[in-house]
Amino acid sequence: MEPLNETIESTEKPKSYLIRTFGCQMNEHDSERIAGLMEADGMIAATDVETADVVVLNTCCIRENADNKLYGTLGQLKSVKDRRPGMEIVVSGCLAQKDQEGIRERAPYVDLVFGTHNVHRATDLLHRSRIEGPLTEILAETVADDYELFPSAMPARRDQGHNAWVTIQIGCDNSCAFCIVPAVRGEEISRPFDRLLAEVAGLAADGVTEVTLLGQNVNSYGRDLTLAARQAGGTERVRPLFADLLRAVGAVDGIRRVRYTSPHPKDLRPETILAMAETPEVCDHLHLPVQSGSDRVLAAMHRGYTAERYLEKLAAARAAMPDLAVTTDIIVGFPGETDEDFECTLELAAAAEYDSAYQFIYSPRAGTEAAEWADQFVEPTVITDRFDRLKVVLERSALAKHEARIGRVEEVVIEGPSRKDPSVLSGRTGQNKLVHFASAQSLRVGTYAEVLVTGAAPHFLRGELVSVTAAARHRTRIPVSAG
Ligand code: SAH
Ligand code: SF4
Ligand code: F3S
Repeated sequence: MEPLNETIESTEKPKSYLIRTFGCQMNEHDSERIAGLMEADGMIAATDVETADVVVLNTCCIRENADNKLYGTLGQLKSVKDRRPGMEIVVSGCLAQKDQEGIRERAPYVDLVFGTHNVHRATDLLHRSRIEGPLTEILAETVADDYELFPSAMPARRDQGHNAWVTIQIGCDNSCAFCIVPAVRGEEISRPFDRLLAEVAGLAADGVTEVTLLGQNVNSYGRDLTLAARQAGGTERVRPLFADLLRAVGAVDGIRRVRYTSPHPKDLRPETILAMAETPEVCDHLHLPVQSGSDRVLAAMHRGYTAERYLEKLAAARAAMPDLAVTTDIIVGFPGETDEDFECTLELAAAAEYDSAYQFIYSPRAGTEAAEWADQFVEPTVITDRFDRLKVVLERSALAKHEARIGRVEEVVIEGPSRKDPSVLSGRTGQNKLVHFASAQSLRVGTYAEVLVTGAAPHFLRGELVSVTAAARHRTRIPVSAG
């Protein structure tokens, strides 16, 4: 019987999968993990929904229209499934974690729904749903082995990139009044230091040269490990902390660039700044989400800092790293935000001289504290006006920062041909700025090169190739052609 089974398996056409990701890096990283599991299960990547056997929608719920977007996409998939009934539809991620059974109630043709705490069970659940019928599995919290059994380093998916994300911490222990993340990602859990380092070393051995450490509040990395050690009887402050992690990751052989996102301003400590300044591999870029420039609004948000304190931390970081690029997130129209509050945000934005910023329009998320403050919601027309005024200030400083790079030689890592003009290459500087430059040589993605900056726009730089500094080291899968 054995050989017969084998023959049947090997002649069966492998199923194909397609994953659409709606959320942040954490969410994208989960998509990578799901892809890794699917490939380990013998599936192959599909290029469009018309041909995919399994379509996974990995959802986000940070924005108000997230639900509309998901159900709109599901409606389109339903018509594909009506034509091809064998197709399987999977919904995962933060919206699945939040809406649970509600997803299949609204879209009964969905085959599988799973949450943020059981990503490692994706393919097991898929097999189960094939046998038992449609399935929803949402766990209330992360099981210890989720991130440990399936770390970022999944060879099946990792052999194509020069950069990799490494999750150092899951969940969030803060309670920002606007934010749904703690509800859908659970409490903060740090991954053990040694395992993280082993993972980075493994990635570097595969040719990865740039890693981005991921967490919702990376500066509190290790706090839970310290508490656990204290509860077990220790009295010393247990290292390692985030600063140690930055230094240790930077020291891994083969790693040329270390990035991280996101630090919380209230927890940005001097030792982190020092570690950034003293570790050349850590990029000159700090993404420090401010959210508002008004102390009253910051207090209502429970952010734990004032505008002044924030600017002091920024000044300390810039004093330690004169070439530091700073980016941020700002929410416009938080409930109760007055004209005066908004003026404070404009002032802070101007004073902080950001290199770039993400502007968000406040959106009430059911289950968060601020969503209850409907009587204080700001008029949409007022919000639009504020949004546009803030944009002017932010773009002005972004352009000034970019213009200040003209004439400098910057090292970039090649990301590929420019989206607008395939004859032009795009590279990313340590400061996280994109540089577009013409190159007679075609340089492989992941190559490091020096570029002279010759022009600037608010969202990118232009340059000229000077020299190649390091070849890409990662393996690229050789595409197998069907013909
Ligand atoms: N953990 C990160 C933020 C993760 S969410 C941090 O604290 O820095 C990314 C960004 O989305 C936030 O910084 C915030 O600006 C924005 N955001 C989150 N919830 C929002 C909401 N309800 N309305 C508008 N913007 C929101
Ligand atoms: Fe949300 Fe605040 Fe946690 Fe960031 S720190 S994930 S904004 S609760
Ligand atoms: Fe990320 Fe969105 Fe979830 S921002 S953590 S995917 S709610």
